[in-house]
Amino acid sequence: PAIATVIPAAGVGKRMKADKPKQYLPLCGLTVLEQTLHRLKQVPALQQFYLALSPDDPYFPDLPLAADRQIQRVDGGSERANSVLNALIQIDAQQYPWVLVHDAARPVVRVSDIELLIQCCLQNEQGGILATPVRDTMKLATAENTVKQTVDRTTLWHAYTPQLFPTVLLREALQRALAQGVAITDEASAMEWAGWPVQLVQGHSDNIKITQAEDLALATFYLEHSV
Ligand code: CTP
Ligand code: MG
Repeated sequence: PAIATVIPAAGVGKRMKADKPKQYLPLCGLTVLEQTLHRLKQVPALQQFYLALSPDDPYFPDLPLAADRQIQRVDGGSERANSVLNALIQIDAQQYPWVLVHDAARPVVRVSDIELLIQCCLQNEQGGILATPVRDTMKLATAENTVKQTVDRTTLWHAYTPQLFPTVLLREALQRALAQGVAITDEASAMEWAGWPVQLVQGHSDNIKITQAEDLALATFYLEHSV
């Protein structure tokens, strides 16, 4: 079945403290956004891309990507979940029964991990996300930042993108959750809230989200060593 791709890229990148949103900062000769699209486009199953951008984004029109006919621009919203929902509303679920959502700010995602996620979800007919088991010892804190207790690490995972779900189910879950004011940090959290199962598909921890300045150096290293 055909898969539509949603790329939320309407954030301002406050934590990055740069002069422009992080998706437009340079990374190995391209912008972060271009590197991300470059990875996604290596997956043959992904043909149609819905890119959520700030309505007054002045940077995108200057990129060669602006002329790419596989990319449809949609207006982003106030939060990431609103940006994703704006894109989902544009998607014909008959044509694209599945939707893959991937952060513009994750340019290092491995093509093989994306393909593994797609294979697991379509085979089991169940939504899922790329994730990795937590490695460090985890502490539950008090309000005063002292340790309340050590948390069992064996059942904790880091959640990444891409996240892949049936288009209709994700759209309904996000719509309902946002209408009820539920805090939604990723697509899976909306699906969990709506009572749907979410598979954890083990990917690689180099799939970092560019968040702070030092992350660009790490992403450069990963891209240059071409994982
Ligand atoms: N995003 C979006 N719409 C928003 C907020 C975020 O499309 N209203 C996108 C970002 O562009 C990014 C992804 O969601 O690709 C993950 O969000 P995050 O890492 O938090 O990016 P920013 O919100 O831009 O960064 P910050 O939180 O530091 O401001
Ligand atoms: Mg943010």
